[in-house]
Amino acid sequence: MAHDIAGVFDKFAIYGDFISAAPYGSGHINDTYKVVSDQAGTIVHYIFQRINTNIFKEPVGLMDNIRRVTSHICARARGRKDASRQSLCIVQGKDLKPFVVDADGNYWRGYLFIEKAQTYDVIKNAEQAFEVARSFGNFQKELVDIPGGRLFETIPDFHNTPKRLEALEAAIKADMKGRVKDVAAEIDFVMSRRGEVSKLVDLNAAGQIPERITHNDTKLNNVMIDDASGNGICVIDLDTVMPGLVHYDFGDMVRTSTSPSMEDEKDLSRVYMQFNMFEALLRGYLESAGNFLNPVERENLPFSGKLITLEIGIRFLTDYLSGDVYFKIHRPEHNLDRCRTQFKLVSSIEEQMPQMMALLNSIQ
Ligand SMILES: Nc1ncnc2c1ncn2[C@@H]1O[C@H](COP(=O)(O)OP(=O)(O)O)[C@@H](O)[C@H]1O
Ligand SMILES: [Mg+2]
Repeated sequence: MAHDIAGVFDKFAIYGDFISAAPYGSGHINDTYKVVSDQAGTIVHYIFQRINTNIFKEPVGLMDNIRRVTSHICARARGRKDASRQSLCIVQGKDLKPFVVDADGNYWRGYLFIEKAQTYDVIKNAEQAFEVARSFGNFQKELVDIPGGRLFETIPDFHNTPKRLEALEAAIKADMKGRVKDVAAEIDFVMSRRGEVSKLVDLNAAGQIPERITHNDTKLNNVMIDDASGNGICVIDLDTVMPGLVHYDFGDMVRTSTSPSMEDEKDLSRVYMQFNMFEALLRGYLESAGNFLNPVERENLPFSGKLITLEIGIRFLTDYLSGDVYFKIHRPEHNLDRCRTQFKLVSSIEEQMPQMMALLNSIQ
């Protein structure tokens, strides 16, 4: 659907002329536009995003999280050189809300466009992995002391692995598409690891690992990489920022950044954890997050890579058994292929766990 971006522009507190707008980026959750405006003779760019309210059903609570998080980070950065490229900066509506609503009821947010930086969809090398992990670790660190009480839980139980396992068990029982008989090996794979799925939530319940503010979508393409230096400069895509365990972020980085393959690769021999990528992630993450983590959080970082990968595999398997209702598929068995890549990666992580722990213990 084409959107009336000029009309949306008019609702923001931007003093200038709308020139043009074009779809931007490769994200597939929100509709993102790059907007060109003229302000007193200078061209200024913005990002406008229509919030996907099918997924994020409470846009007001979500934008309140983003407002709190970005204003906290911006306040910290004030005075620093290049501060406005180091955090997303929200453009307010004319009514001073952190979003505007168009004539069709769509919720829109505006950000300053971060110039001279890019996001990458496919990781190029270990240096990028280091930068991505350092950026997300820094993001968590900046939010350790955010005032104002608990953030809104945008998607409750997002990384509650025991609940994800319960959903799988329900899907097996229902067997809506008669597919259970074809996935005995995958079901066995999960069930033989069921003793581990509640490890992190149990440690949290026992008070050994605290709830913190986490990003929850720690893919490479959610960090802007500075063109000139190659450094990660700004964490973006803040829809899923909410209370969580640090492991959700670190674990998902291991899942999405260590294998040379795509998430739906059919040739499983191509799916494995590259140790040098894990090492880069761990070193980058500890460089920024190392000094706020407690010892139990720290010692569970390698395990989190395994658990979050297993969890996403469980979700793909659940969706396959339920008739592919959540994740978009582009071929039959797409979700099963995705499940298999996750489980293959879990096995690869398990094989390398002793070295991963040794590396962790060698870093001061
Ligand atoms: N403030 C910004 N400045 C420049 N580019 C941005 C900005 N925000 C987002 N982008 C670009 O738009 C793409 C999609 O945005 P993102 O918030 O990640 O949406 P999605 O949830 O759809 O992944 C990003 O990968 C990035 O390239
Ligand atoms: Mg994104």
